[in-house]
Amino acid sequence: MKAKSIRTLLVDFSPFFFLLLFLSSGCQTQEPVKKYNHSFKPGEIWVDSDSVHINAHGGGILIVNDTYYWFGEHKTEGKRGNSAQVGVQCYSSKDLYNWKNEGVALAVSEDPNSDIVKGCVLERPKVIYNAVNQKFVMYFHLELKGKGYSAARVGIAVSDEVTGPYNFIRSLRPNAGQWPVDMTVEQRTSTVALADFPEWWTEEWMKAVHDGLFIRRDFEGGQMSRDMTLYVDDDGKAYHIFASEENLTLHIAELTDDYLDYTGKYIRVAPGGHNEAPAIFKKDGVYYMITSGCTGWAPNAARLHTAESIWGPWTEHPNPCVGDDSDLTFHSQSTYILPVSGKNNAFIFMADRWNPSNAIDGRYVWLPIQFENGLPVLKWLDEWTLDVFDDLKN
Ligand code: GAL
Repeated sequence: MKAKSIRTLLVDFSPFFFLLLFLSSGCQTQEPVKKYNHSFKPGEIWVDSDSVHINAHGGGILIVNDTYYWFGEHKTEGKRGNSAQVGVQCYSSKDLYNWKNEGVALAVSEDPNSDIVKGCVLERPKVIYNAVNQKFVMYFHLELKGKGYSAARVGIAVSDEVTGPYNFIRSLRPNAGQWPVDMTVEQRTSTVALADFPEWWTEEWMKAVHDGLFIRRDFEGGQMSRDMTLYVDDDGKAYHIFASEENLTLHIAELTDDYLDYTGKYIRVAPGGHNEAPAIFKKDGVYYMITSGCTGWAPNAARLHTAESIWGPWTEHPNPCVGDDSDLTFHSQSTYILPVSGKNNAFIFMADRWNPSNAIDGRYVWLPIQFENGLPVLKWLDEWTLDVFDDLKN
């Protein structure tokens, strides 16, 4: 048979040709988003689906159905970028490697009278979902504009949609007029006051701190609240965990059923222990909390605390990091611990590598939590994927 010319072939197949063309153009819009990342590379630039470095520092993650939502501080360039010029940024992901920018979830205000006016300090936002009111509830550390870190307040914002916009409700110092449940009558009624100590950091002063010196000082106005996280337990009860008492003592405070207020029940963890950057998870009925020491933006050694009840007693263990730079938490500071969906006992330690002189260039250090001898261990990995968890004996 004589070979057909190309021209004849095109005519013969033209209906198929146009069908193919139609199908392929139709498919283009349905094609899944291009995957930019296939692994975690701690400390490196991590781009979103627009190829822009993710801007969600001091963040936390909320899982809604099959999607992860990452909320964090939107930082800008330079030193000034450490204060809130934009607000809280939100990203979404289905696989944890690839993130889509969902925009500003909570915007700073242009109103100079607002607590969250542009230029305030708005740090470590965390979002939880309240099933009672079907609202997304955001808590964050708030410092009032122009007042350094002296305000030590918590801000609360709410939204009907996970990605926002969140409406700022109020800021406060928690638990005004409430004693921690673990403070003795003797400690509550002690007359020892800050004025009795011309010098801080002495042995007597430390003992007084341990015995609630700052709790008594701040009793009426509410307790200081700086670095923080939120935790929702299996029974739906939520807790605000924050560095209080001049960053000397962590507090764990129970929230009301709508997550918008405090029940007044709270405990002190490691009084005088100087912990901040709390991140918590629960495994087999045990609570694990990783914190940092207090050296500002500079990294230090992480600490590990465990308890069988959220109400304690909490026990401190050695630094969970091992290997090179373990005494600096691999040049980072904890912010959140994420249980991976669909995997058993798979927890990701999320931390920030701050860059205070160019805030926007802060990096993310995510590492898998491995269990050894019943305790979490963190080891540096240049690159890893979620498959790591399949080989761990967690
Ligand atoms: C860190 C804290 C950060 C930020 C910083 C400011 O200790 O964890 O969230 O507040 O201090 O110096």
